[in-house]
Amino acid sequence: MIDYDRIASEYAQHRRVHPEVLNRLHLDSGIDMNSIVLEVGCGTGNYILAIEGLTGAQCWGTDPSDIMLEKARLRSETATFQRGLAESLDFPTVFDFVFSVDVIHHLKKPRTYFEQAYRILKSGGKLCTVTDSEEIIRNREPLAIYFPETVKADLKRYHPIAELREEMETAGFVKLSETTVEFTYLLTDIQAYKDKAFSCLHLISKGSFKRGIEEMERDLETGSIKCTPRYLLLWGTRI
Ligand SMILES: C[S@@+](CC[C@H](N)C(=O)[O-])C[C@H]1O[C@@H](n2cnc3c(N)ncnc32)[C@H](O)[C@@H]1O
Repeated sequence: MIDYDRIASEYAQHRRVHPEVLNRLHLDSGIDMNSIVLEVGCGTGNYILAIEGLTGAQCWGTDPSDIMLEKARLRSETATFQRGLAESLDFPTVFDFVFSVDVIHHLKKPRTYFEQAYRILKSGGKLCTVTDSEEIIRNREPLAIYFPETVKADLKRYHPIAELREEMETAGFVKLSETTVEFTYLLTDIQAYKDKAFSCLHLISKGSFKRGIEEMERDLETGSIKCTPRYLLLWGTRI
């Protein structure tokens, strides 16, 4: 179990939106300034605030970590942030779009979340779950290269996509679809890795972590490190 209250500062400092994830959330959700949108497990508000900036939609975020929410609230006077869990969403049926990024692997019972999301979405509203497939976890660049132990640890906690699809259908969602996105950049500063801003780095041994950081430092001496973060977006529509 990762304590986001404890790592909120490192998270806020290092984690940014994935431009292609944001692009797809914006364009494929069909939302505009008249929409009402909720991000579940919004953390420090990276995605929901970017969505607000792009669309002018009425934006809400919910997360169980008070400290993550504190940081989110400081960044917007218009978005509303409310403490809460994905498994018990305390909202009425008003949303056009509900989404989560990097959260579903924290949930023991994703179906409970899907049922809750179904209840608070208006008819025709969309749900999007942004997560990692097994294939993405096995080939993460640079995490799987420098910290191969993260692969096993994350395969244990991430739900297989087929299982998520089944749970979504059981909750009532239709028109399920998947998209994978990626973008590449060159890493010249590994402070985010040293600060363990990626939760899987909290799941490996001290020795494996130290070895990975040392290898990254060695490679940085001869150039930058190629990073290609990839995500899978799983979509469904409420009838
Ligand atoms: C990796 S962070 C992602 C934050 C944000 N979505 C982003 O992409 O910047 C995971 C977030 O999930 C939240 N979380 C953990 N368990 C949760 C639960 N049961 N319901 C809702 N959010 C949860 C954590 O507090 C944390 O803010």
